[in-house]
Amino acid sequence: MSAGPLLTSASRVRNVGLEGEHPDNIVADIARRGKLPARIIVVANEKGGVGKSTIAFHLAVGLLHRGHSVAAIDLDRRQQTLSRVLGYRDGTICRLKAPLKSPRHAVLQVPSGAMLCQEMMRIGSACDYIVIDVPGYDSAIARRALALADILVTPISSSFVDLDLLARVHPLTLDIVSPGCFATAVNEIRQARLRQGLGGIDWIVLENRLRRETSHNRDRVEAALRTIAPEAGFRMTKGLAERVAYRDLFLMGLTHLDLKALPALPFPNSRVVQEIRNLVATVEETPADRRCLVNA
Ligand SMILES: Nc1ncnc2c1ncn2[C@@H]1O[C@H](COP(=O)(O)OP(=O)(O)O)[C@@H](O)[C@H]1O
Ligand SMILES: [Mg+2]
Repeated sequence: MSAGPLLTSASRVRNVGLEGEHPDNIVADIARRGKLPARIIVVANEKGGVGKSTIAFHLAVGLLHRGHSVAAIDLDRRQQTLSRVLGYRDGTICRLKAPLKSPRHAVLQVPSGAMLCQEMMRIGSACDYIVIDVPGYDSAIARRALALADILVTPISSSFVDLDLLARVHPLTLDIVSPGCFATAVNEIRQARLRQGLGGIDWIVLENRLRRETSHNRDRVEAALRTIAPEAGFRMTKGLAERVAYRDLFLMGLTHLDLKALPALPFPNSRVVQEIRNLVATVEETPADRRCLVNA
């Protein structure tokens, strides 16, 4: 079926990049500041409330549990969710004398490429991984974070509203009509990185807050995601279910991976532990030469 008649002219308008900033300039700004040995994981999506900070936190802690050294940088100066949960974690470790590690972390106070690279150098120069949490809107600093990414992790809800940022799909056939605004931004930066010899980005998309029961809508979203993945150049991994366990330990800065070491607290939920481990294993799979697994 042809896509044309169902789409208004507004749907066909070309995605417009960030004003005046060519992706080559963004990547050049990052490239001239040198490369750290750490692998850089950027957790980003232009949508708010999809679980970016929750996933950045669980990834950072999950990587620590795997024996990696980790630093975390929060680009969301306003909400500072990642920084706050890690601050609570530092407090809990100190108070309970818990045998747990915490990443070094910082909030980026001045949103510039120079300051971001400086902060990464300051707290992450000796680390295996640096996790960067990006606020849910397009900005010059968000694009610089994308330009730095070896691994980009994008949580989405199981919803066509979120999927629209990855690709615009035909309402009946679910065929791709045009790339979504976020996929366009990622791929422009990706191509600029390749042109400047920085290697690709391994882009991982996962559904977050999955309800346990299946539904017709969820099947359709998943079918559309499978169609979009090779076109947009991301791979998918098993997402996180909707669980209180991902938020009820916020004030203690803990994850269910930590509970085993704290006998005074409730027993860890093995399904949550498995979901976090799966997420961590997915980022550990990224090849050492940092080429993306899809569309290298
Ligand atoms: N898998 C999940 N299960 C339950 N609640 C979740 C899950 N992921 C995120 N949340 C909750 O959703 C809200 C938004 O999450 P957050 O990580 O702050 O999103 P973002 O950083 O994308 O704005 C928070 O209340 C958070 O606790
Ligand atoms: Mg956030």
